[in-house]
Amino acid sequence: MLSPIRFRPSLRPSLRPSSPPSLRPSPAGRERALAAASLLAAALICFTGLHSPARAQAAAGKKAKGTTPSVARGKYLVMTLGCNDCHTPFKMGANGPEPDMSKALSGHPQDLAMPAAKLPDMPWAWMGSASMTAFAGPWGTTFAPNLTPDEETGTGAWDEDFFVSIFRSKKWMGSGRPIMPPMPIDDYTNLTDGDLKAIFAYLRTLPPIKNKVPDFIPAAGGPGGGGGQ
Ligand code: HEC
Repeated sequence: MLSPIRFRPSLRPSLRPSSPPSLRPSPAGRERALAAASLLAAALICFTGLHSPARAQAAAGKKAKGTTPSVARGKYLVMTLGCNDCHTPFKMGANGPEPDMSKALSGHPQDLAMPAAKLPDMPWAWMGSASMTAFAGPWGTTFAPNLTPDEETGTGAWDEDFFVSIFRSKKWMGSGRPIMPPMPIDDYTNLTDGDLKAIFAYLRTLPPIKNKVPDFIPAAGGPGGGGGQ
């Protein structure tokens, strides 16, 4: 607000304008007025734009996208949580053994028959195959399953809720015997539903590979014995 004292000519003669500034706008004043007008126009365009059906649809799409499991996030999790280290058979590469990504996440190769495991003497407790997909220990012999979306031998018939249920229950197929080592199920059970769904969404994008992984062989009298697959 203008202070009446400040503009009282008798008190502050030096401030007395020769003519009222409002009647003779300076070029700078005109620029300010133009800027204000264009700001108003821009605000109006934004306002009407926001309420147009196209905008509303785009906003709704964005919201839905935020709740859809992200394949990129799933890939990131699979690549950092080491799923390929056990679920992809290893081959010999230029720098030593490495996962054979042409068989990514297809599990223990069906044609790689493993002889019965002879467990080492303690304190050695367990052993693994050169393919890094079969493991024998006090729990029995486990084979990393096929995670590719093949309908018959992989995860093709699963949905994301079924996938999450495996990690929540820590049971084979979500309701069978306990999942055995070395699958780090006690760590992965801490993943959020969102991250597990993202992992599943990524698995869905893999080329399906037909590969029937052998069944779990329980240790005689050990945990999981008799539970079957
Ligand atoms: C250290 C090795 C290892 C790592 C790392 C690993 N797995 Fe496993 N996984 C296994 C083995 C071995 C089994 C079989 C366990 C059994 O038979 O009880 C298994 C079982 C599973 C099962 C259970 C399948 C079913 O039918 O119930 C799922 C699902 C699975 N793994 C997904 C994953 C995902 C996803 C990752 C990465 C986030 C991962 N695994 C990382 C070794 C591993």
